[in-house]
Amino acid sequence: MAIINAPKGVPDYVPPRSRDFLFVQEQLSSTARLSGYEYIELPVFESTELFERGVGTSTDVVQKEMYTFTDRGDRSITLRPEGTAGVMRAVIENRLDKGPLPVKLWYRGPFFRAERPQHGRYRQLQQVGVEAIGSSDPIIDAEVIALADQAYRSLGLKHFHLDVTSLGCLQCRPAYRLKLQQFLATCDLDQETMERASLNPLRVLDDKRENVASQLIDAPLMIDSLCTECQEHYDQVREFLRLFGVQWNEAPRMVRGLDYYTRTTFEFVHPGLGAQSGIGGGGRYDGLMAELGGSELSGIGFGLGVDRTLLACEAEDLTPLSESILDVFIVPVGVESRVPCVSLLFALRAVGIAADVCVDNRSIKSAMKAANNTNAPLVIILGPDELSTGSVVVKNMASGEQQSLTNDQAALIAVLKENLRTHQAEIKKLETEKPKTTKEDQS
Ligand code: HAM
Repeated sequence: MAIINAPKGVPDYVPPRSRDFLFVQEQLSSTARLSGYEYIELPVFESTELFERGVGTSTDVVQKEMYTFTDRGDRSITLRPEGTAGVMRAVIENRLDKGPLPVKLWYRGPFFRAERPQHGRYRQLQQVGVEAIGSSDPIIDAEVIALADQAYRSLGLKHFHLDVTSLGCLQCRPAYRLKLQQFLATCDLDQETMERASLNPLRVLDDKRENVASQLIDAPLMIDSLCTECQEHYDQVREFLRLFGVQWNEAPRMVRGLDYYTRTTFEFVHPGLGAQSGIGGGGRYDGLMAELGGSELSGIGFGLGVDRTLLACEAEDLTPLSESILDVFIVPVGVESRVPCVSLLFALRAVGIAADVCVDNRSIKSAMKAANNTNAPLVIILGPDELSTGSVVVKNMASGEQQSLTNDQAALIAVLKENLRTHQAEIKKLETEKPKTTKEDQS
């Protein structure tokens, strides 16, 4: 019978790479968790109208990339293409905007965009995101950007850069938009680009085609048309970014794919990824909550692409990021050892030691091969000799050293924990003493 493949453009993460995927996702999440952001769990599908109103009908995301279907109750439903609109909907619906502000939330999970699949561009993509809602303080803009920067650095990533700009506000942008449209009307553009210029002129600035880009060199830029409030806000954001030690490039031509952005917008870019180099991005969205029927509250957030961050770690040769999911692998030798091994297995798991046992009555040779495959730092061997003396053999897989220890569970657990602590300390020491050289360092 023919095999069934995953739908086009949808990645599987299988072991051992799935360990690194999980590691990246948890590392990105833990930065938000450790910074006072509360977790929010959101539905994977929402009313289509939420994204039409929230993300904007002139965006590619809404026009071409949404997975939309009619459910059994004849409602138009869309698999979420991004997280911000859903967070706003949940904040309004659960009246979090009426409580203490700012509301700081983080989320993670899959998002869906029917884009043309290529390296780093998937139809099911994974993000870790944060949203800070209810404050326009530039400290929050800088904090959110610094959080993302720190999250990438905590993985060991070095060769990414950060682009930042201000897109102005609902007061100063309309006048700029008109100025840009007047400029674009003087250019020699094809029909489709002219249409884009009338619908969403800022997006034309991002056109990479030589014949278009060459005409846009003198195009007016939003950054030169900011109102006094936006200019002051942006100046302060940059001052705080400096204080937080974050480095960035001014990117006055940056165009984001979602319509809700105002003022500070940013993108993290990794040059090791080819065409799909945006590993994360975000910005402020002053009118979004009101647009969705909520209070006039401003907000700012980011979405970090887990898939692309993993690709960036691979491009910098940082993988494997996690050596093993196990601390201990237990090998019973002979049928009589199976029961004591299983009871030891559960005792170890009960005290938080990640453990597994070799099954199927394997020979010692084949069992040690299985132990090797797990990468567990410690292997416990229990055979007839150990059974008769009430002991176990503990093998340190890195040094090859073997110790005979008592099978008294409390005493054994204490020794195992000590060994695991030493093992962890050695790994940490190696990591700090010998920072990994990257492909780019070597070139
Ligand atoms: P976004 O820039 O559309 O922003 O997506 C954020 C990140 O998700 C991108 O930088 C990229 O790493 C990843 N990503 C996007 N599309 C794909 C894809 N097709 N395949 C793989 N990775 C992808 C947002 O979604 C906003 N909601 C972020 C935000 C939060 N802004 C304010 N708050």
